[in-house]
Amino acid sequence: MSQRFFLTTAIDYVNGRPHLGHAYEKILADVMVRHRRSLGEEVFFLTGVDEHGQKVQQSAQKAGLTSQEFCDQTSALFRDLWARLGLSNDRFVRTTDQPHKDYVRACLQKLYDKGEIYFKEHEGFYSARAEQFVTEKDQVDGVWPEIYGEVVKTKEPNYFFKLAAYQDWLRQYVTDHPEFIFPSFRRNEVLAALENPIGDLCISRPKSRLEWGIPLPFAEDFVTYVWFDALINYVSFADPGLPTDKWPADVHLIGKDILIPAHAVYWPIMLKALGLEQPKQLVVHGWWMNRGAKMSKSVGNVVDPEPYIETFGPDALRYFVMREMSLGQDADFTDEKFIQRYQSDLGNDLGNLVQRSLSMIGRYREGSVPARPAEALTDLDRELESDEPTTLFREAMESKQIHIALQHLWAYLQKANQYVEQSAPWKLAKDPALAPRLDVVLATLAETVRRVAVLTASVLPHTSEKIYAVLNLPVTAESFRLTEAAFGNRLEGKPVQPPTPLFPRIEVEKEEGKKA
Ligand code: MSP
Repeated sequence: MSQRFFLTTAIDYVNGRPHLGHAYEKILADVMVRHRRSLGEEVFFLTGVDEHGQKVQQSAQKAGLTSQEFCDQTSALFRDLWARLGLSNDRFVRTTDQPHKDYVRACLQKLYDKGEIYFKEHEGFYSARAEQFVTEKDQVDGVWPEIYGEVVKTKEPNYFFKLAAYQDWLRQYVTDHPEFIFPSFRRNEVLAALENPIGDLCISRPKSRLEWGIPLPFAEDFVTYVWFDALINYVSFADPGLPTDKWPADVHLIGKDILIPAHAVYWPIMLKALGLEQPKQLVVHGWWMNRGAKMSKSVGNVVDPEPYIETFGPDALRYFVMREMSLGQDADFTDEKFIQRYQSDLGNDLGNLVQRSLSMIGRYREGSVPARPAEALTDLDRELESDEPTTLFREAMESKQIHIALQHLWAYLQKANQYVEQSAPWKLAKDPALAPRLDVVLATLAETVRRVAVLTASVLPHTSEKIYAVLNLPVTAESFRLTEAAFGNRLEGKPVQPPTPLFPRIEVEKEEGKKA
């Protein structure tokens, strides 16, 4: 049986429109799973939205809508954007879906029956923006950091989950499983955090303060704390009903802001208490920054992905975020960088190679790929056949260095463009005696273009399909398997279409005084 790969993303809050930070994570997830599929693995890719909680309730009130109406509207924005970006998710979860709500209640009841949940009067500081209780030790220089927004002192009776009882177990688990948190410097942060007492987790909110949530099965006048509800999506949607046939996840892909405490403390302990297996790995990415701060709705510096997709196409955005960010680190978004990558990497290196290769086959060989007899090949031709680019690409992808994988691929594209210059088909075409050489060059270029389409498919899926279309090759589930990247003579004697530019030149007006 083929290997299985189950990947989840964070589920986004629907209190605003999707921004580039959300889009990055989902694109990254899509690239990772498409790569796995290209290795023949059976993938399950889960993403979706987190719809309960105070933030959503407040945003709905502001918009003059019921919470459900508001969620229906904003969830659709996420779902539509993911479709436009070509995400290949198997499911789109909504935490307001009934099977999820039932599953959360079943988990709560189970923990309650096991004595893992207790009731007490609690006084503390609450941040609606982070949807969590905070303590004075979360302050920096005596003030609440920006990420918490307004922090309000609250006193109320609530239900608590016995988190602290599992602290020693968790520390041991993280120590014994070095692969559990990636990159490893994040694992060290988790271990450092576990040096301090973690306390129990307040898992309820009285309905008098917050209505928009899943009622506790054993106390219907309380709703479930939104994080407790949201984390369970990973299991509830893997398959409705217990035991799930997909669990455990191979990768939970999340941003660094939601590692501690949610994914590295609450979630492993919830699973342990529920008697479920741990996910194999938490893969933690950094932040997209804009004008020196984390891109976020509350800071007001978000980049809307829509106009970039509209103007440059979905693959341009996918490529940019994969190429510019080293997984785990932060990166800066600027229009200048985006346009530079579009024009140079996509337009010149990739677009031009495809454009000129196919136009020359049209011009010099009436659109039919010539033969490429082995005895006629020179060292120059053979250099483009090497499997090395595929190996380097694959190794980098598997060590989650997607930007490096793209660097390798682009080195190959540059080599292919140099090949065009060195072979100068336009000169060969002038001398009928050089026709056999021109055949070899054109056939080598056609096959290079085909393998480039295979290698780029996980990052630039729409582009790969367009290349296959001009090569008259069908797109099937197997088309972009990595094994297809091996150099062959698959196009010999086959007709190709006249190309249209993959990344047309776009004149970008420089707005006066506009700083990206
Ligand atoms: N709803 C919770 C997650 C629950 S998972 C069970 C949440 N939502 S969020 O909308 O605030 O963030 C969703 C994801 O987007 C998180 O992984 C977060 O790190 C990521 N990003 C939000 N802003 C970001 C950037 N500026 N840059 C990169 N990713 C960031 O947290």
